Amino acid sequence: MPAKRTISISPKASALIGSLRGLGYSPETALADLIDNSITAGASTVSIDLQWNGGVPVAAILDNGHGMNEERLADALRLGGDGPHGKRADSDLGRFGMGLKTASLSQSRRLTVVTKTTGALSSAFLDVAVVEARGWIALVPQSLPDQPFVAELQNRSTGTVVIWDQIDELSGLAGLSKEAFHLRLEDIRAHLGMVFHRFIGGDATRLDIALNGRLIRAWDPFQASHPATREMPSERIRHAGSSFLVKPYVLPHRDRFTNEAEYHAAGGPGGWGARQGFYVYRSKRLLVAGSWLGLGGARTWTRDEASRLARVLIDLPTGLDRDWRIDVRKSQARPPGALRARLTAIAGRCREEAREVFAFRGQGPRVRGAPHTAPAVWLATQGPKGPQYRINRDHPVIVACRQSAAGVRSFNAVLSIIERSVPVERIWLDVSESEGAEVPTLDAEEIGQLTDQLAELGRTLPASMTIDQRIDVLLLNLPGDLTELRISLTHKLRGHP
Ligand SMILES: Nc1ncnc2c1ncn2[C@@H]1O[C@H](COP(=O)(O)OP(=O)(O)O)[C@@H](O)[C@H]1O
Ligand SMILES: [Mg+2]
Repeated sequence: MPAKRTISISPKASALIGSLRGLGYSPETALADLIDNSITAGASTVSIDLQWNGGVPVAAILDNGHGMNEERLADALRLGGDGPHGKRADSDLGRFGMGLKTASLSQSRRLTVVTKTTGALSSAFLDVAVVEARGWIALVPQSLPDQPFVAELQNRSTGTVVIWDQIDELSGLAGLSKEAFHLRLEDIRAHLGMVFHRFIGGDATRLDIALNGRLIRAWDPFQASHPATREMPSERIRHAGSSFLVKPYVLPHRDRFTNEAEYHAAGGPGGWGARQGFYVYRSKRLLVAGSWLGLGGARTWTRDEASRLARVLIDLPTGLDRDWRIDVRKSQARPPGALRARLTAIAGRCREEAREVFAFRGQGPRVRGAPHTAPAVWLATQGPKGPQYRINRDHPVIVACRQSAAGVRSFNAVLSIIERSVPVERIWLDVSESEGAEVPTLDAEEIGQLTDQLAELGRTLPASMTIDQRIDVLLLNLPGDLTELRISLTHKLRGHP
């Protein structure tokens, strides 16, 4: 369109810097953005130092990447850098040319970079007060900051230190009590162990991340090394001249973990309820840690109790950023419209399997490593009016009882009454309000009582069954650790007093 004249609309630095500071980073997402830069620079170690400092925290991050010369450093501090359209290497975790600035300034009022490449050291800082007063300029400090990482960098041939030395209330870290600050450090640790788990202990180029001198441990959302994790078939989806991998996993039932601590750890930061759904990776770096991405059938899927064991990996290359609408903070992704139906179908199957494992349908062994020999006590079937729960009339214990029952009709009536009065809604409510049903442990008295009752029942089982088979039939459907009960029952059935 032909123009009559121009009007200047170049942004006011003082206003723009304020808006950029409020992009909504948390300390952990901001640190993750800096670690992205270290990875792109080829680093194999990143050390983070985050000190409470009497409620005025200071942070520094040191990497052993290739560093920058003075010219590159000036570019690095420029907002927008090469922008989102420049061509980037596949391993480049950057995107908008914003991260270093927006992440750092969201936490602190001053960002200092000290960097070394092939022996030459450069340093510059970006100060919010200076930008507000004098526009977009960075300053070269008169002397290097007095910070242990800077001293360490001087002994290395290449690397970069980023320092946040005026962390303010925007970060949520300033003004905390020492205890609260240390609790936040644990959240940060967990978050970074999740976002970079494939670098720390997976299939990406190896990276060690240390926070305050302690190595961060990887958290694998798929618990791939757990024997009871189910890997469903993966699919490669072609889109926009590229392709990516989708791989659904169903995680193990609670009872398959050796103990509560292991189960909770597998849930991940925020717990099982929050961590279901898609895990979207871009060049192996986690962007979305559990979300159904607005997909679903007639109704959009929400995080629900029954799907908590469903986790679906999506492995994107960098080239698909635009289609997936990756945001500046790299914490959001939206599947392209054309792929929604396909992803919904894949995830739908995963949710279904997860539901079965969660509800324990088929009633496999509840004890880890136990053989699949015990028939189920309960059968869940889909009736015309919804699910039905029936007691398995062919279960050896039920058969034995029926045969020895005084009145077979009454016995059948009792079963019917139990089946028809299963308090389904009550159980559903109770389970979804708590973090899943906890399995109570048996005390000595309960073990004694159960042993007597089960032994009596065990003796009515067919003579063709061995004692071990009887014990399996009696115990394998019961939850929790039954080692002691098994020992005492074996003792009793073998005829010891
Ligand atoms: N730790 C680092 N080591 C080497 N170069 C870096 C480092 N951090 C940032 N840079 C340089 O600064 C540039 C701008 O970084 P950033 O603002 O995060 O945007 P982006 O990562 O999207 O390019 C990077 O492209 C890189 O050239
Ligand atoms: Mg970056």
